[in-house]
Amino acid sequence: MVKMMSEAALPGRIDAAAYLSTWAKRVEGELDRLVPESSEPPEIFEIMRYSLFAGGKRLRPVLCVAGCEAVGGNPEFILPAACALECIHSYSLIHDDLPAMDDDDLRRGVLTNHKVYGEAAAILAGDGLQALAFELMANERMGAKVSPERHVKAIRMVADAAGATGMVGGQLLDIRANGRVSDVTHLEEIHRRKTGALLRVSVCLGGLLGGGDEAQITALHVYGEKIGLAFQIVDDILDVEGDEALMGKPIGSDEGLNKATYPALYGMEKSKRLARSTCEEALQALEIFPKNAPELESLAHFIILRRF
Ligand code: IPE
Ligand code: IPE
Ligand code: MG
Ligand code: MG
Ligand code: MG
Repeated sequence: MVKMMSEAALPGRIDAAAYLSTWAKRVEGELDRLVPESSEPPEIFEIMRYSLFAGGKRLRPVLCVAGCEAVGGNPEFILPAACALECIHSYSLIHDDLPAMDDDDLRRGVLTNHKVYGEAAAILAGDGLQALAFELMANERMGAKVSPERHVKAIRMVADAAGATGMVGGQLLDIRANGRVSDVTHLEEIHRRKTGALLRVSVCLGGLLGGGDEAQITALHVYGEKIGLAFQIVDDILDVEGDEALMGKPIGSDEGLNKATYPALYGMEKSKRLARSTCEEALQALEIFPKNAPELESLAHFIILRRF
């Protein structure tokens, strides 16, 4: 469930919080239909559903929807792909919280998956969610709406963003960095892969499956890169000065683990300036769209002004 922003309305031509909340509910309904409680065998699905339905902003599926709208596509047709992104994201959070990684006890306002079900089950639930994502990406009804070439390209794009060149590779860079990041190129690479890749592909996937042309997908790629980086800069900032109750995850986790973050490298003020200027660059990339993609514009503002 998307909480409302506490401050005044966000900049942008549409209400990002309302847009997020509307599509988050639609995505959750679709996830519940595609991965029902009655799925067999029951225990593994219970453990997967524990994290999948624990809340969360659903930002990646909603960015996919907004990317689709930017190119004039109908998001209803691409919901299985939007749900696949949330499955990959939920799996990445389950694994990120494990004792072998960030060792956190709280996620989305509830105990982390391994705290409830144990580490082995949490690892397997993550594995199950990742495989499920590609089952959803291969959805036949969605495939019938696009050319086979576009469909295969979409699946490959998601695999690249989730795997060793993207999120998985970035997570290892993050672990290995261990307080030894002294230059911004290294830090940017960690953030671009561990978080940026999945956010970027979310936007591009919506554009591709929604029928966008090459120039539009390129613009979405640039927008996605920029908001992906801005998102993780803000995540680092919120780990220092966020509100644990709003965030639903522990504050101060990065400092405790000596993580490579923007505030650690640049301090708070410069990190905030960078998040804003990166957001501006994202907005510039939207200029090629006839209506300047108001949904993506408002989501970019949400990403840097969010409190959770
Ligand atoms: C948190 O992502 C993990 C990162 C990639 C930094 P979100 O802030 O999107 O988490 P949820 O989905 O809303 O819980
Ligand atoms: C994790 O980054 C990114 C993932 C791929 C899950 P963080 O470790 O900063 O995410 P949080 O702060 O635990 O959500
Ligand atoms: Mg981490
Ligand atoms: Mg973490
Ligand atoms: Mg973090």
